[in-house]
Formats: sequence, structure tokens, C-alpha cells
Amino acid sequence: MAQGEYKVADISLADFGRREISLAEVEMPGLMSCREEFGGLVAGLKGARVSGSLHMTIQTAVLIETLTELGADVRWCSCNVFSTQDHAAAAIARDSAAVFAWKGESLEEYWECTLLALTFTKDDGSGTGPDIIVDDGGDMTLMIHEGHKAEIEYAKDKTLPDPASTDNAELKCVYRIIARELPKDPKRWQKLVTRCHGVSEETTTGVHRLYQMEKEGKLLLAAINVNDSVTKSKFDNLYGCRHSLPDGINRATDVMIAGKRVLICGFGDVGKGCAQAMKAAGAIVYVTEIDPICALQAAMEGFPVVRVSTVISSIDIVITATGNVGIITLDLMSKMKNNSIVGNIGHFDNEIEIEKIQKATKRINIKPQVDRFVFPDGHGIIILAEGRLLNLSCATGHPSFVMSASFTNQTLAQVGGGCTSDNVYIC
Ligand SMILES: NC(=O)c1ccc[n+]([C@@H]2O[C@H](COP(=O)([O-])OP(=O)(O)OC[C@H]3O[C@@H](n4cnc5c(N)ncnc54)[C@H](O)[C@@H]3O)[C@@H](O)[C@H]2O)c1
Repeated sequence: MAQGEYKVADISLADFGRREISLAEVEMPGLMSCREEFGGLVAGLKGARVSGSLHMTIQTAVLIETLTELGADVRWCSCNVFSTQDHAAAAIARDSAAVFAWKGESLEEYWECTLLALTFTKDDGSGTGPDIIVDDGGDMTLMIHEGHKAEIEYAKDKTLPDPASTDNAELKCVYRIIARELPKDPKRWQKLVTRCHGVSEETTTGVHRLYQMEKEGKLLLAAINVNDSVTKSKFDNLYGCRHSLPDGINRATDVMIAGKRVLICGFGDVGKGCAQAMKAAGAIVYVTEIDPICALQAAMEGFPVVRVSTVISSIDIVITATGNVGIITLDLMSKMKNNSIVGNIGHFDNEIEIEKIQKATKRINIKPQVDRFVFPDGHGIIILAEGRLLNLSCATGHPSFVMSASFTNQTLAQVGGGCTSDNVYIC
């Protein structure tokens, strides 16, 4: 047990975290049944090293403690710089597992935490890596693949990855860390790939990344697609976002949603939940879609399907839920009304052109995760969580009950993943 090893905001929050974890356990019957049904230690997980990269919330705390109760040795980081609930991280760090996560990490810190979660204290003869991985969005998987690629290059001619070779701020951090660590152990990532049974991936975008890597023949690990399990995507993505989108908007801005014009970009599982929530709150809801079936579904639900460019100047709140990039551009944002709100519930910070608006406007921080960006003509827009998941950054993500369904899939995947070595499953 890697107990006592942690980097969290404030370990004295552990009692508060523990009290909320005990409330969440009652609302997470799936996870609690796993503990009961598997009756303590599970062959596949007993002594298994599990590394997780998934929002360090109260609900995730119940997942971690399910894995530790089934016998796993767990190390954890968050998959989002803003989503950690510090009291949850403190309780887990004190009581159950090694945790490296706090709310408001810098990008550098985020990737250092990912490295720490992947690095077990002792080399057990097969290296310091994990036996199984829980990933959400694919960042942990990305670091392993980039590390492995770098080792192959390094073995040829001592070339190290160059942070200056990319404009991507995240990749710069990854390259910097890998270059720093590589000379210390030039086989670290290869040993990890050899020992690791696989990764269970939580979300749509992470799964897309995995399929892409598999198609290109680059996927080095067996992978379990947890997202496409019906009891994950048709519950968490839909009903979870239906709950946590208004929660995020309310906590961030307290603006009256009723009567406002809301644009939901993407009408997949997440978009459907968002559109329902905004309609229920009394908003006039528009949808954009590129998939004809999803567009038709939106129309059948009574939502006008529009182009962003034709409605943007009359919209009060725009929410991206596509998992795609460059949905709300700087040009579109410049046409929005004064104090209109822009938020993303899809993935990472790529759906909204954050870097460009930061360069083109004056940023006024209203409070953590809420900024007003003022254009040269004096009008401004409010962007939530710098374009990162607003439900996990401005609020606390999905409620326990829906996360119980998602994380029961994760637990089953981990139990299965611990017993196998070279299969690719859909959970
Ligand atoms: N914030 C959360 O709590 C949370 C929870 C689950 C999933 N997610 C993330 O949300 C995103 C969406 O997930 P999903 O399960 O709804 O995926 P999905 O594939 O079911 O839906 C995405 C939809 O967006 C549409 N789309 C893609 N590009 C578009 C564009 N340019 N304009 C308009 N529509 C476009 C697609 O056609 C699709 O229907 C993913 O990135 C996923 O990882 C977030």
C-alpha cells in the first residue's frame, strides 16, 4: 500500500472528505455490491498495481476504495487541472492510496502528477510501472506511448524529445518530463508496457484516441472501452450531464436560465442531456449537429437545428458537447452579446478557441474558473473554466448514483483486465 505518499492541497480536509465519502457510499450501490459480491480480495486485483487518471472527486474516492478493498495497490491523479475536490483527495491520501491531485494545478504540475501516479515506489523486478490503468480521456495512455516512442529513438542515437518541436502546451510538458527522466532509466516505459495488462478507458474522446491508435498500429496496451457500455454512456453522459450542466452554470454565474437563448453544440449523449436540462430550466434551446441522425433526433425533440454562425449573435449561453475541436472560434465569440456565457462540457479545452481569445482580449478574473474577456470595443463575454469541463470545474461533476453505474463498469473492467494479458474488450 502506497499509503502516506501524496501531494494534495490540504491533508487536514481528510475528515470532511471522509464524511462526504460515507454519504456517497449509500448512493453508490453498484460499487458497494462489487465489494460485497467479490467478497474481499479478487485474484486479478490482489497485489495488482493500479494507476488511475480520473477526476479526483468524492465519487472517484468510492471507486478507489472499492479497488483497494479488492486488493489493489492504487496511485491516482486527476485528468483535469480544475476537477479535484480537495477534501476527497485528502481523505484518500490519508486512508487508502497514493494521490497526486489538487484543484487548480498548472499544466506542468498536472503532467508531473501523471508521472507520479504512474511510478510505484519500489521496482519489483519488472519496473516501477502499474499492472493496470484506469484512464479518462487518454492522458495517462498518451504519456506511456510518448515515453515508449522516445525510448526507441533514444536507443538509436541518444535523441531526446524536444519541447520546442511542438506548439501544443500539453505536449511540451510531456516531452520535457520524458526528456528529463529518460537518461535515468532508458527502459522505464518499455518495462511498463511489458508488465501492464491494459487500460480501461472512461470517456468518448479517450476511446476515440484508442481506436485511432489501434487503426494506425500504434496501440501498445490491451484496452477496455468502458464508455460504450450502455450503463455508462447512456446514463453518465446523458443524465449525469443533465444534472451537472445547470449546476456548473449556476455555481459559476447564478444567471437566470429561464427565458435565455441557449445553444448546445453536439446532440450526442452529452448534448442530449444538456439540451433537456436547459429546456427544463425554461430556456429557448437550439442545437447544432453534423450527424444527420442526431440532428433528426434533435428536431424530433422540438429543438431547432441551426448553424452556429446564423444564431450566435442572439445567443445568451453556448455550451459545446461535441468532443471535436475549434467549435466556438474567436470570430464567433467576438459576435456574441455582452456578458453572454461560453462553456464546454465536451472534452479538454479544444472546443473553444481559448488561446486566441486570451491574446485578443483583456481578461478579468471574476472568481476561480470564471473569467470575463473584454474585446477592444468594450463588450465582453464570460468563459467558464478556461474552456475546460465546466461541470467538473465550476461544480462537482456528476452525482454519486450515476457515477456508481459508470464506476461499476470500471471495476468489472479492472477485475477482468487484471486476469488477462492480451485481449481487447468492449466492457
Ligand atoms: N463533462 C462530462 O462530464 C462528460 C461526460 C461524458 C462525456 N464527456 C465528453 O463529452 C464529449 C461528447 O461525448 P458524447 O458521449 O456525447 O459523444 P457523442 O459522440 O455521443 O456525441 C458528440 C456529438 O457531437 C457531434 N459533433 C461532432 N462535431 C460536431 C460539430 N463540429 N458541430 C456539431 N456537432 C458535432 C457528433 O456528430 C455527435 O453526435 C466527449 O468529448 C466526451 O469525452 C464529458
